Amino acid sequence: MEIVELTREHADDIVTWSYPEPNGCYDLTGMDPRHFTDLSRGFWALVEDGRLIGYRCYGRQARVPGFDYDDEALDIGGGLRPELTGQGLGQDAISTGLEFARAQFTPTRFRVTVAEFNVRALKVVDALGFVAIDKFESPADLTTYAVLVRDA
Ligand SMILES: CC(C)(COP(=O)(O)OP(=O)(O)OC[C@H]1O[C@@H](n2cnc3c(N)ncnc32)[C@H](O)[C@@H]1OP(=O)(O)O)[C@@H](O)C(=O)NCCC(=O)NCCS
Repeated sequence: MEIVELTREHADDIVTWSYPEPNGCYDLTGMDPRHFTDLSRGFWALVEDGRLIGYRCYGRQARVPGFDYDDEALDIGGGLRPELTGQGLGQDAISTGLEFARAQFTPTRFRVTVAEFNVRALKVVDALGFVAIDKFESPADLTTYAVLVRDA
């Protein structure tokens, strides 16, 4: 797995991705592909053998409305291609993203915001050493999110 620049072709693929419930809130269907190719928004492609298997994002785009974020940590987010979820790829996917971010942005800490119902994602970030420091309800979707951090 590796992180590469997200092309328009990748973006056209990503905007068709839809996740089964309860993960429908992570759907990317119908979004403008330019949202993903605008480098300033911090989206990158996760590929394996040249095939797009997911995306990673860094910075403000990885935040969820309703939490008082500081700039002491680099926010991370992302997702696997829907049909590749639930197969044990998540830990490698996020690790690959962290390794890339360490080299690219030299952060001191990483932060991730995960919906409390998303036990699958919470298990993966827990295994990667993230520790919950807070939780909040987002006014955007009235969902409770956990905020977790780890040293970079
Ligand atoms: C979150 C994500 C990266 C997790 O990766 P994954 O490869 O799908 O997860 P895995 O198959 O490795 O499952 C992780 C763990 O959750 C468990 N799990 C899977 N589905 C579950 C469910 N519905 N409820 C509870 N546990 C579940 C697995 O058994 C596994 O447990 P283990 O570590 O004890 O073996 C991936 O699902 C994804 O990108 N999802 C879509 C977007 C998303 O959720 N984003 C959140 C960003 S933080």
